[in-house]
Amino acid sequence: MSAKRNIVTLDGPAGVGKTTLAKRVAEAMGIAYMDTGAMYRTLGWKLGAQAASLDEAVLAERLAACTFSLSGSGAATVLAVNGVPVGNEIRTEEVGMLASIVAKLPAVRDALKKAQQAMGEATPLVAEGRDMGTVVFPEARCKIFLDATPQERARRRFDQLVSMGDSPDLEALTEQIRQRDEQDRNRAIAPLRPADDAVIVDTTSLDIDGVFEEIMRHVRTA
Ligand code: DC
Repeated sequence: MSAKRNIVTLDGPAGVGKTTLAKRVAEAMGIAYMDTGAMYRTLGWKLGAQAASLDEAVLAERLAACTFSLSGSGAATVLAVNGVPVGNEIRTEEVGMLASIVAKLPAVRDALKKAQQAMGEATPLVAEGRDMGTVVFPEARCKIFLDATPQERARRRFDQLVSMGDSPDLEALTEQIRQRDEQDRNRAIAPLRPADDAVIVDTTSLDIDGVFEEIMRHVRTA
């Protein structure tokens, strides 16, 4: 495909703020956002860490039994699995780690890539994850890669979990994020990395409004 697709990709490591920003950018553009981390989290939650030892045919069957869909747009976009909206139960760091484990499996990546590309065919999107600009939508019109130090990302995730009523341990969170980074960056298929044509935004010393403005500046000129 040669024409640039009406898709904005936001990739980056755990806790950098991708979901919050994808929502805001989608709202500003009047299009839907696709939280692909939530898709991997849902499969991590449903399949568990033993997914890697499942028989190939059983795994294929379990993946075929999960159908993802998107409805609505902007901040009101809803991601559903088998018609049921994905809820906050997947937002813990433990489920994040399960997601990162199942995300190494070729059958899982293949199934989600197909589902994500089908959603991108159906509607313009802000697509956030790890491999949106490199693998899933290499022809996207605007690609952004967000980064921040692990300490700053752990602090942001800490605030998010507290706002959801959790009482996380900041030191443990920093270590979990570090481990997840290592796993996501070093896996064989679709590792976390910026696309060659992505704009890299270091968000460490920016607040959310500052990052949003910077992203929108690139979106407008892409
Ligand atoms: O963005 P997140 O923290 O919700 O993602 C959870 C995990 O899912 C992440 O550690 C790795 C995996 N993931 C992936 O491999 N590819 C994506 N496009 C999105 C997430």
